[in-house]
Amino acid sequence: MDPHHIRDIVYTDAQISRRVDEMVDAMADHCRSDNLVMIGILRGSFMFLADLVRDLYEHNLHPRIDFITLESYGSGTESSGSVKITKDITVDVAGADILLIDDILDTGRTLTYAKDHLTQLGARSVKTCTLLDKPSRRIVPIEADHVGFTIEDFFVVGYGLDYDSYYRELPYLAKVTFTPDQSNH
Ligand code: IMP
Ligand code: MG
Repeated sequence: MDPHHIRDIVYTDAQISRRVDEMVDAMADHCRSDNLVMIGILRGSFMFLADLVRDLYEHNLHPRIDFITLESYGSGTESSGSVKITKDITVDVAGADILLIDDILDTGRTLTYAKDHLTQLGARSVKTCTLLDKPSRRIVPIEADHVGFTIEDFFVVGYGLDYDSYYRELPYLAKVTFTPDQSNH
C-alpha cells in the first residue's frame, strides 16, 4: 500500500447517505416495474448498492439483485483499455427492467460494456446509476441516467472504491495523493 496516503475527505459518510436518499427519491418512480433487477458491478458497487436497495425498499420496490464482475483496471489507476467478464450474472434477465449500478463512471468503458452485455441477454431496459462521475475522463461516450456526485479528475477511494484492492471499507470518500513517480493522475 506504500508509498501513498489518504489525505482529503471528499464526501463524508453523512453527505453520501444524504445524497443516496435524494437519488432514490428521484429515481424510485422510474424504477416501477413488475420485473425489476438490480445488477451491481463488482467490486466497487457493493456498498452503494447495499445503501440504494434499502432506500428503494422504503419506496416499496423489491428488485431481484445480482452482480457481475468486470475487470479492466490492473493494480494501478490506469485502465488497460479492455474490459472482460470474470463472473457473469446468474439471474435470468430476459424481459427485465435493469438498474445497473457502478461506483464511478470514468472512461465509460465498463458501463458501456455491461449495458451492452445485459441488452444482449434480453433485458427490456437498462438504466444506469453511478455514485460518481468524472466526465473529463470519458473516452467512450456514455452518460449515466442517475449520478450521485460529479467530480474532477482525481483518484478517490472508500465507500467501495479501491486503490490496489485496499481502502474499500472506508465509510467516506477520500482523495489519494500519489508521489510523483506513481500513476499519471
Ligand atoms: P471506466 O471503465 O474507465 O469508466 O472505469 C470504471 C471503473 O474504474 C470503476 O468501476 C472503478 O472500479 C475504476 N475507477 C475509475 N476511477 C476510479 C477512482 O477514482 N477510484 C477508484 N476506482 C476508480
Ligand atoms: Mg475498481
